[in-house]
Amino acid sequence: MVSADTHKKAQTDETIMEVTRWTVHIEVRLKLRASARFDTIRNLVHNFIASSERLALPCTLDGWEEVPELASSVEKITVCESLCTESSLSMEEMNIQIHVYKPSDGDAFEEFSNSSGNVNDDDDTMAASLCELPNRSHEGLWDSLIYADDIKMKLLDYIHATLVFSDANVDFNLVSWNRVVLLHGPPGTGKTSLCRALAQKLSIRLSHRYSHARLLEINSHSLFSKWFSESGKLVQRLFTSITELVEEEDGFVVVLIDEVESLTAARVGAMAGTEPSDGLRVVNALLTQLDKLKHRKNVLIMATSNLVKAIDSAFVDRADILQYVDLPSREAIYEILRSCLCEIIAKGIVLPVSVPTLKQVQIYELVNKPAGRSDDVQDRSKNVGLRLLALASACRVQGMSGRALRRLPVLALARYIGIGGIVHTTHQAGEPPRERQGALVEVWLDGMEKAVKEQAKESEKLI
Ligand SMILES: Nc1ncnc2c1ncn2[C@@H]1O[C@H](COP(=O)(O)OP(=O)(O)OP(=O)(O)O)[C@@H](O)[C@H]1O
Ligand SMILES: [Mg+2]
Repeated sequence: MVSADTHKKAQTDETIMEVTRWTVHIEVRLKLRASARFDTIRNLVHNFIASSERLALPCTLDGWEEVPELASSVEKITVCESLCTESSLSMEEMNIQIHVYKPSDGDAFEEFSNSSGNVNDDDDTMAASLCELPNRSHEGLWDSLIYADDIKMKLLDYIHATLVFSDANVDFNLVSWNRVVLLHGPPGTGKTSLCRALAQKLSIRLSHRYSHARLLEINSHSLFSKWFSESGKLVQRLFTSITELVEEEDGFVVVLIDEVESLTAARVGAMAGTEPSDGLRVVNALLTQLDKLKHRKNVLIMATSNLVKAIDSAFVDRADILQYVDLPSREAIYEILRSCLCEIIAKGIVLPVSVPTLKQVQIYELVNKPAGRSDDVQDRSKNVGLRLLALASACRVQGMSGRALRRLPVLALARYIGIGGIVHTTHQAGEPPRERQGALVEVWLDGMEKAVKEQAKESEKLI
């Protein structure tokens, strides 16, 4: 989705200069009740951007609120990350693509129940759910996921490559792909979230090709763990629905098969069980259905697993991309913890302090020692960054997942800071002491350090 092309630009003195143009995607989110036409907004945003000299990459744009038509319809304008390593680009260096979208509200879910319809059957776990994209419930997810190697860009590039091949009408007998991506790795590394985030991103980026998009999430566990009678019918029903969805050629469909290793469990179970033919038939039917879908341009199958060795090899072989999603590196952990801290500062739980970016803190680490206890704003920010980086190293040693990291602030507050700890008393000369809502960042850091140590002790007990 991100590319650079080189244009030859004639200059007045007749010399030819090569100008590299980077594709930069701008996403414009509209308000729920906005009624303006998308192309009107696109033109207004284009004019607004053209009036500035350079754009920072990536960033959230501001200043557009001064344009009344934009102020009344637009909620947010984001300049997305690009392959370009520069921190900003001039208008001449960019090939701007503006994507205007209005996410649907979270209530557009439709569910496929596993229930047999029998009132006495208490196993009515949902086998699948369908949601309209882009969806408000998935907003911000893409940016919240942080990986050391650029998995997110790799996945977008894969989709881009398949579009290029599809558009060129490449003969499928000679060059073919299956439209299947398999993400695997330890629990809590954001695999399911990444699939949802990618589906959301595609629905925004491909909105000029498809008028609508949908995400169908299949819960493999509830679908494949119970074999007798119902699963077969359910797989059939599901794929009939998927085929119907995909037949609407102006709609894009992402199918997420979560915890796909249950597929293999089903096959093995079927071999050992009393009705082997039923189980096998269903798994084979699923693989056959996937093969049929590969001829459709407007579908993408994403699967996740934390036990890749247990996945049916016939399924693994169909994956165009087999991507390992690792536990976060120290740098990724720093960014995850930083995003947690910035959020609770924004919400008033911790008193305001500037938290250095990863780049800044890496420089502090290289050239500076901690500034010691200091009230100077910059020194304090540097100390916060260095302590957070040390905390990130401790989390890395323990091999903590993204999921474990994101719950640390809650644990720190509950166990070590206490609700009373977030009321802070300020003393200013000549004035009575004042109570302010919010903990000092140092108190929060103490709590986090204790929570990580506690976690380490608990994990040792598990071994
Ligand atoms: N790399 C990451 N960056 C930021 N947040 C992350 C990361 N990995 C996980 N998380 C957070 O952890 C939570 C759990 O993620 P998710 O359920 O997608 O993981 P998973 O890999 O599917 O886990 P499982 O294998 O147990 O199904 C999410 O709320 C997500 O925000
Ligand atoms: Mg998952």
